[in-house]
Amino acid sequence: MTEKRQSIHGEWTSRWAFILAATGAAVGLGNIWKFPYIAGINGGGAFVLIYLACVLIIGIPLMMTEVLIGRRGRQNPAGTMRSLAKDTGRSKHWQWIGAIGILSSFIILSYYCVIAGWAMNYIFRAASGAFHHASASQINHIFQHFVANPWKLLFWHSMVMLVTIFLVIRGVKGGLELAARFMFPAMLGLLIVLVIYATTTNHFIQGLTFLFKPDFSKLNSTSALSALGHAFFTLSLATGSIMMYGAYLPKKASITRAAIYIAIADTFVALLAGVAIFPIVFANGLQPSAGPGLIFQTLPIAFGQMPYGSLFASLFFLMLVFAAITSTISLLEPSVAWLIETFRISRLRASLYAGFGIWILGLGTIFSFNILENVKIFGMTIFDNLDYLTANIMMPLGGLLTVFFAAWLMRRSDVLEELGISDRLLFRAWYFAIRYLTPLAILLIFLNFVGIIQF
Ligand code: PHE
Repeated sequence: MTEKRQSIHGEWTSRWAFILAATGAAVGLGNIWKFPYIAGINGGGAFVLIYLACVLIIGIPLMMTEVLIGRRGRQNPAGTMRSLAKDTGRSKHWQWIGAIGILSSFIILSYYCVIAGWAMNYIFRAASGAFHHASASQINHIFQHFVANPWKLLFWHSMVMLVTIFLVIRGVKGGLELAARFMFPAMLGLLIVLVIYATTTNHFIQGLTFLFKPDFSKLNSTSALSALGHAFFTLSLATGSIMMYGAYLPKKASITRAAIYIAIADTFVALLAGVAIFPIVFANGLQPSAGPGLIFQTLPIAFGQMPYGSLFASLFFLMLVFAAITSTISLLEPSVAWLIETFRISRLRASLYAGFGIWILGLGTIFSFNILENVKIFGMTIFDNLDYLTANIMMPLGGLLTVFFAAWLMRRSDVLEELGISDRLLFRAWYFAIRYLTPLAILLIFLNFVGIIQF
C-alpha cells in the first residue's frame, strides 16, 4: 500500500534536482553568517571539532533517516509521521514529532528572513561604494546605525518574505529547483576570492589556529550544546524541511549518496567562510565574539581594500541572499504543505497565510536589535531566545525522537527497502548508528548540559 503513496505537490525532475535543492536548503546563512559568529562566541577550535563530530555521527545518519521517512510518507511532516506510525501499528501521537519540526521551521524562518534582509540591504550598500577604503570602525558604525532602525529592518525583512512566498507559490518544480541551480557555484567562487584575500592579511595563520586548534579549556556544556544545535541547523534537520524534500524524491534515487554529498558540501562552505573571516577579524583588531553582526562588520573591510571591491562585495551579498532564499523556501514549505493537506486550501492561500504569520513573528527579532534591545528573557534577547529554543532544544529533541522511531519502531525490512542500500555493510553501519550512536551522542550532550554527567 505504501508503494502507491504519492505527494500531491509533485516530484523532483531527477535525483540531482533533489541533491541541488537539499544542498540549497542546507547551505545558507547558517554556514556563512551563523557558523563564524557562534564559533567566535564559543572560542573556536574545540567548538568546531564537536560540531564536525556531530555532523558525522548525528547529521548524516539523521539526514538519511529523514529523507527515507519523507519519501515513504509523502506528506507534510505531521501527516507523514501519522501514516508511518499507522503502518506499523503505533500511536498516532507520533505525528507530534512532525508537528515540532513544522513549528521549528516556522520560528527559524521568522528570524532568518530578518538576517537575510540585512544581506539584501548590503548588496546595495556595497554597490554604492560605502565600503570603499572604509576603516573597521566606519564599517562598524554603518552596521550599528542600520540595525538600530526598525523601519529599515522591517522593509528588508518584508522583501525577503515576499520573494520566498512568491517562489513557494510556484511549487516544487517551478520555484524550488530553479532557485537552487545557480547559487552554489557562484557562492563558492566568491568565498574562494575572500579566502585568497585572507591569506594576504598577515593574520591568516592566527585565523586558522583559532578555528582548528582545539582549546578545550574554552569549551563548556553550553558550547557543546550549541555545537550540537548548529549541526542540526546547518543541515536543516528536524525542521521538516529535509523530510519534505524527501517526500518529493523519486523512488529510485539513492538516499545515502545524496546525504553524504549534502553534508560534505555544507561543511566545506562553512569552513571556507570561517577561514575567510577570522584572519580579517584578527588583522583588524576585532573581537571574534562580536555576535550576529560578525560577517557584516568584517567582510566589508576586506572588500573595501580589494580592487573592484564594491563589485565583489555586491556580488557576494547577492550570492548570500540567493543562498538564504534557497533555505527560506525550504523553511516555508513544511508549514505550507501542512496547511494545504490539513485544510484543503490552495498553495497560494497556504503560502500567504503561513508567510504572514511568520512575518509577524519576525517583528520580535527586528526589535531585538533596537527598541527591545534591552528586554531580556532568561538573560537573552527575543532573537537569541528564538534561536536557542529551536537550535538547542527543539531540533535535538525532534531529531532524537525521529531516529528512535525509525530505528526501534519501524520494521527493519521497510527501512531497508526504502533506503535501498545494496551494500549490507553500509546498511549495518547506518542502522547501528541510528540505533545506538546517534541517540547516545545527543543524550550525552543533553545530560552534560543539565549537569547530570560531566566531560
Ligand atoms: N540550513 C540552513 C542554513 O544553514 C537553515 C535551515 C535550517 C534551513 C532549518 C532549513 C531548515 O542556513
